[in-house]
Amino acid sequence: MDPGGLELISFGGQGQIYRWEYQGKHYVIKAVLNDESVFRRLNQMREAVERLAKGLGQRIPEGILKRAFPVGRGWVDDPEELGFDKSDQMTVIVYNWIDGEPLDSYLLSQLCSEPPLSSARVKLAKQVLELLTFLEKAGIANYDMFPDNFVVDPLGQVYIIDMEGAGLFDPGTRTWIWTPVALGKNFPGYCKPPEFDAVDEDLKVFSYRWVGATLVFHILFGVSPFAFMQRIDLKALLELYDYADKGAIAWPPYGAEKAQYVNPRLDPAKFRTQIRSSCGVGSRGVCPLEVLAFLTFISGFDKPAHRPSFEFARLILSEVLAL
Ligand SMILES: Nc1ncnc2c1ncn2[C@@H]1O[C@H](COP(=O)(O)OP(=O)(O)O)[C@@H](O)[C@H]1O
Ligand SMILES: [Mg+2]
Repeated sequence: MDPGGLELISFGGQGQIYRWEYQGKHYVIKAVLNDESVFRRLNQMREAVERLAKGLGQRIPEGILKRAFPVGRGWVDDPEELGFDKSDQMTVIVYNWIDGEPLDSYLLSQLCSEPPLSSARVKLAKQVLELLTFLEKAGIANYDMFPDNFVVDPLGQVYIIDMEGAGLFDPGTRTWIWTPVALGKNFPGYCKPPEFDAVDEDLKVFSYRWVGATLVFHILFGVSPFAFMQRIDLKALLELYDYADKGAIAWPPYGAEKAQYVNPRLDPAKFRTQIRSSCGVGSRGVCPLEVLAFLTFISGFDKPAHRPSFEFARLILSEVLAL
């Protein structure tokens, strides 16, 4: 490979990301510290996705196929040139390049003036949920579903990227084939589910639903579902959970007003009214998106299996659309 054809895009979570031009086409080159298992993991995920598509008689969604799986591999001859030790073994993963914008900046540039639940927001959330549902059915548990791990092309099509750390489970028994690698980073407005620091990996089999619900909510409303909180670490979540009136299906939960870490600029009652009115729901009706948030973050707080599947989240969303 001619290093002259490489353009540095990002320093990334685990290594550098380059755009590489080769024979008139663009690719992503991702250099990671040598871990051969990443290819086995990604290949088994690809096989799981292929099996599911075959079983359903469907095609694999482009949003998964195009950028989630490698199209090639290689190694770095001189790791020192990339700032690593001479003795480091570095693997290179080659992906297709998507001409587009990462979803985090897309939300700010293209959707920032869109009101909650505008058709552009709903269209995008539906697409993302379609991808997430397909992955979930295939047994892929991806914790890294932050907005910077999706790319939107100029036609508005969404692609998932950066699935190297995702886990793979047997959808029937929900036992791990590959356990997921830690929730990579702190993304503003996103928090780790409470079971996350547990040593027991089996507790984490539904953790991806927590992150996925946060993402969908973020796309639909332009803010994280935790925007009414000042801090969203485990201590603050525990306090919220203790205050929450667990019998009432609401988001933010009734009782959140009393919590110490409430964002003074966004009091929970106002936040709740805004969610309900944008769903067209009066004070007494059931707001489907509140139900999704409640089941994921309150009843699913210490019972991860209670968190709704992405399929269920899609049903909830279609109900909002019908309003
Ligand atoms: N195909 C692509 N098109 C546009 N931007 C991309 C593409 N691939 C990666 N990027 C940019 O590079 C960043 C890091 O890529 P990613 O695969 O998520 O690696 P990391 O593991 O370092 O997070 C993305 O958040 C995005 O901003
Ligand atoms: Mg990433």
